[in-house]
Amino acid sequence: VDSRLARYRNLMQRVRQFYIQQLKQSPAKDKAVNYAKNRGISGKIAKYFELGFAPPSSNLLSEFEQNDQNIADLKTMGLLCDDQYRSGQYYDFFKDRLMFPIHNAKGNIIAFGGRTFDNNTKVKYLNSPETPIFSKSKELYGLYHARKYSRSIDYILVVEGYMDVIALHQVGISQVVATLGTATTIEHLNILSRVTNTIIFCFDGDNAGKKAAWRALNVTLPVIKTGITVKFLFLPDGEDPDSLVKKESSKVFVTRIENAQPLSQFLFSHIKAELDFSTIEGKTLFLEKVSTLLRKINYKIYQQQLLEGLAGEVNQSIEQIKYILERQDTPVQ
Ligand code: UTP
Ligand code: MN
Ligand code: MN
Ligand code: MN
Ligand code: MN
Repeated sequence: VDSRLARYRNLMQRVRQFYIQQLKQSPAKDKAVNYAKNRGISGKIAKYFELGFAPPSSNLLSEFEQNDQNIADLKTMGLLCDDQYRSGQYYDFFKDRLMFPIHNAKGNIIAFGGRTFDNNTKVKYLNSPETPIFSKSKELYGLYHARKYSRSIDYILVVEGYMDVIALHQVGISQVVATLGTATTIEHLNILSRVTNTIIFCFDGDNAGKKAAWRALNVTLPVIKTGITVKFLFLPDGEDPDSLVKKESSKVFVTRIENAQPLSQFLFSHIKAELDFSTIEGKTLFLEKVSTLLRKINYKIYQQQLLEGLAGEVNQSIEQIKYILERQDTPVQ
């Protein structure tokens, strides 16, 4: 193993331990403990996800031998920042936050997320920056825990946040990962399609969540392949998975999972909702918009099925549809 990577791994483990210890021992710990309690996080689940506390006065350097190597490594890991005004002085990146360690698929700590206790703070969640061991577009929070007890998973839920993953685990739904404040990427999808056959996007029931779902659909189209099913679970307005499982039983949530919308249904209904389907002009637009999306699909059998679905939607034969689409700039097939 690259000795540099081994050093980072070791350092991240020590930092995780430091934050865990602070949650137990810091003079300021009550704030963090009460916050976690108020959010319904049990002691057991906090331990399982290795939650910690970065105190207001957090000073990671004091935990390490203060040599150039440690200082450089803590900086590279994004945990230590240069003091702009006093050269040779440093301050912690994470202060006064509830800490969520982020594991890679093997279980090593590669980054942290920290939640403020004060909802008025501008940045609610602060995440580690990109580092040599952390690339947001390639990591999924919770993947390690989702696979801990079973390697192949019948479905996986993709949610927005740390708290959503943890709240679902707490009610027994452990097949869940979160993108880390970024849009779903092709890399995420490639990783997910290697561990499960069914990917279910479940973003917040707000405008941002709806936009994220549509974006996810667009990213997904080119990578759908044999054996992979993609679905969408839409939550009631104003809810996210965390808030919802605190209101309704996990059984109801499981039913929601079972009734998630197939991608095809979301695709048609989303486009229909933006136009007046009762007019010829509306139907024309519908045909154009759907066909533009269908062109992105490389999985031919699925593309064919969606074409048939499109024909049904506009009440025309599949031959007519193909005829129309072939006359457009780029043919479908
Ligand atoms: P949300 O904005 O949905 O979090 O962001 P939330 O549900 O309101 O947060 P809580 O429940 O009050 O704690 C979802 C995820 O997006 C990322 C985080 O990963 C967060 O969990 N995020 C959000 C950030 O990275 N930075 C932010 O400022 C906000
Ligand atoms: Mn929010
Ligand atoms: Mn949100
Ligand atoms: Mn939330
Ligand atoms: Mn949310």
